[in-house]
Amino acid sequence: MTINDINNQNLLKAAGFVGGEWVQADDGGTLTVDNPATGGIIARVPAMGEAEARRAIMAAESAWPSWRAKTVKERAAVLMAWHQLLLENEEDLARLMTLEQGKPLVESRGEVRYGASFAQWFAEEARRDGGDIVPAPRTNTQIRVTREAAGVAAMITPWNFPIAMLTRKAAPALAAGCTAVIKPASQTPLCAIAVTALAQQAGVPAGVINLVLGSGTVIGSELCANPAVRVLSFTGSTEVGRILAAQCAPTIKKLALELGGNAPFIVFDDADVPRAVQQAMLSKFRNAGQTCVCANRIYVQNGVYDEFMALFKERIMALKVGNGMDDGVTIGPLIDGAAANKAAQHVDDCVQKGAKVLCGGNALGGNFYAPTLLSDVCDDVLPCCEETFAPVAPVFRFTDENEVIKRANDTIYGLSAYLCTRDLGRAMRVSEALEAGIIGVNEGIISSEEAPFGGIKQSGMGREGGTYGMEEYTEIKYTLLGF
Ligand code: SIN
Repeated sequence: MTINDINNQNLLKAAGFVGGEWVQADDGGTLTVDNPATGGIIARVPAMGEAEARRAIMAAESAWPSWRAKTVKERAAVLMAWHQLLLENEEDLARLMTLEQGKPLVESRGEVRYGASFAQWFAEEARRDGGDIVPAPRTNTQIRVTREAAGVAAMITPWNFPIAMLTRKAAPALAAGCTAVIKPASQTPLCAIAVTALAQQAGVPAGVINLVLGSGTVIGSELCANPAVRVLSFTGSTEVGRILAAQCAPTIKKLALELGGNAPFIVFDDADVPRAVQQAMLSKFRNAGQTCVCANRIYVQNGVYDEFMALFKERIMALKVGNGMDDGVTIGPLIDGAAANKAAQHVDDCVQKGAKVLCGGNALGGNFYAPTLLSDVCDDVLPCCEETFAPVAPVFRFTDENEVIKRANDTIYGLSAYLCTRDLGRAMRVSEALEAGIIGVNEGIISSEEAPFGGIKQSGMGREGGTYGMEEYTEIKYTLLGF
């Protein structure tokens, strides 16, 4: 399968998109897009720079007044058309995603539907965001509180969910009346191009969506420094998030940062163990372990440790590693060689400090790493302080509730956390005690368009999705009316 097998060739532009035009880099430079499963080159796209990013911002700034002036109903109609087109092109988009990102085709199809859902959800949400009338302190006055579009929003999107993270940012921005400049990850520009082409087809006016392809450092610096950009939304590592936040400080932008995680997944003695294993599989191995909300540290209480490990091992050994295009494959390649090396480094560190490898534990060549189960892991290991972002499951033993809460919270991250228990009191108590923006109780997949996604501590700020997702792209205005 190559990009020539994509049915809708309009999705393949090999160009950026600025002011309604498909454009090349000023200096004609390109970057290659590689297939992480084969190492082969799939396509070349323009390597744009600072000047092109500046033009994209100017295009977004000029398009803003007329887009903002449209009725919410008009903007919602465009988003609904985009949603429909994303669904109609599901198979092509999924193939493009598997080609450039590597995840199994069945997961790519799921991501296209997940990504499309944000366009529909925010089209609906925008129409209900009418503001508030607040009781005033004096007679003959009224306090009117409205939410207004913040302006030009810049979005830096990641390679692990190349469609859903783009729509999760762009849909609320457009619904709110903002215009967008999008910089997708260099590894996965083809999905971003295709989704932008569908936005154009859906009737998004020229300049309302702009796409700038190329180096994150160069384009990111312009997006952060340019005073016309009012919002910066970024999904990626905490390390890069810190740099972007510092670069945005001089122009005091609104920031929405969805950064790294290091999710604890806690299984108590009173859990339904088969269900806990099932949910741990979903949480840990989705996208080959390359999600910010992946279980990174699995804590299992002594009473169910052996039962959990036996079942977990059986399920992990049944995973099929391979090219995501092939039937039955459940674990694709990691995004690149550095990611496979990091997996090996984390496993080696655990093993050197006493952990046992129950299955996997080895590189499989290219960007592939074997799904790995590690038992009796101690707390002084790399997965306790960094995201592993690979199909590696380190399992720790614990004795009691207070102890595990302390260990789970002992991290700078606070994106998601999971617990499995049949005791409702414990579920409530532990959910409250865990320091994370998202908690899954007996559930390993917590993302949906209806729910607010985002973290606390150094996992970031702001929320995407849910009713809260529009707040990142709006400013509150209070008007005191005297009469
Ligand atoms: C992420 O890993 O950044 C997003 C995952 C999700 O939306 O579930």
